[in-house]
Amino acid sequence: MSDRKKVTLTTLFQKMANGEPITWLTGYDYPTAYFHEQAGIDMILVGDSLGMTMLGYDSTLPVTMDDMVRHTAAVRRGAPKAFVIGDMPYMSYQPSVETAIRSAGRFMAETGCDAIKLEGGAEMADRIAGIVAAGIPAMGHLGLTPQSASALGGFRLQGKSALQAKKIVDDAKALEKAGAFCILLELVPDRLCQLITERAEHCIIMSLGSGPHAHGQLLIYHDLFGLYPKFTPRMAKVYGNAGEVILNGVKAYVAEVTSGAFPRPENYFGMKDEEYQELLNLLED
Ligand code: KIV
Repeated sequence: MSDRKKVTLTTLFQKMANGEPITWLTGYDYPTAYFHEQAGIDMILVGDSLGMTMLGYDSTLPVTMDDMVRHTAAVRRGAPKAFVIGDMPYMSYQPSVETAIRSAGRFMAETGCDAIKLEGGAEMADRIAGIVAAGIPAMGHLGLTPQSASALGGFRLQGKSALQAKKIVDDAKALEKAGAFCILLELVPDRLCQLITERAEHCIIMSLGSGPHAHGQLLIYHDLFGLYPKFTPRMAKVYGNAGEVILNGVKAYVAEVTSGAFPRPENYFGMKDEEYQELLNLLED
């Protein structure tokens, strides 16, 4: 995959036009991004979900811009060709359009990411428009938006009633009109996702737990491999249990150090007799 071409907005819109599903995963560090790149993933989201998956908070709210910049720069180093999206953390864009442009600019300048994402509907359209006018690709996030989980009544399906669904359809149009190149629909009913996808004109619609009728799919990396100890959401598919592999490995290491089985001679280095003797002589002087 090292001779892979850089994934750009043109690549993504071409895939959308050809009806080829776009692949997207979260990633938060260098080694994971490296594996994503080798596997040929189209996009990597450095989500503020890293507050929960990597830093152990109970929500995404404590995540800072400094946290995001450090992790996004590491992902960029691991995946130079994938389309990397930096997720704007809580209160890095809500206060004003100017705050949003400055935060997005910092993301681009300090991490080398390709675009930014922010949460919210029509009320955030002016932030999207400002960021896009500053020359930065911006995407939206509708449905279950974790930064507003409290206001939404928790981590639950959004847009179940016709009225709520209509608001999400209107929000999607407002973000598209403001210049969002892409919108993520998280945890909305499949038919609502399909409807928004069919109505999108110049905007890529991605699904996270919102069914197959979008231009592509996103999952949280930790959910794929049993790496988040607290829970695995229903929308995730588990592709392997890396958590179990790691736990068994650490248990074996603890047992071997305790018993003296580790380290073995192949795990360390000796010293020539004459050098060792010389060292003893030096120490005696
Ligand atoms: O932070 C994140 O990973 C996200 C996803 C939940 C979409 O925003």
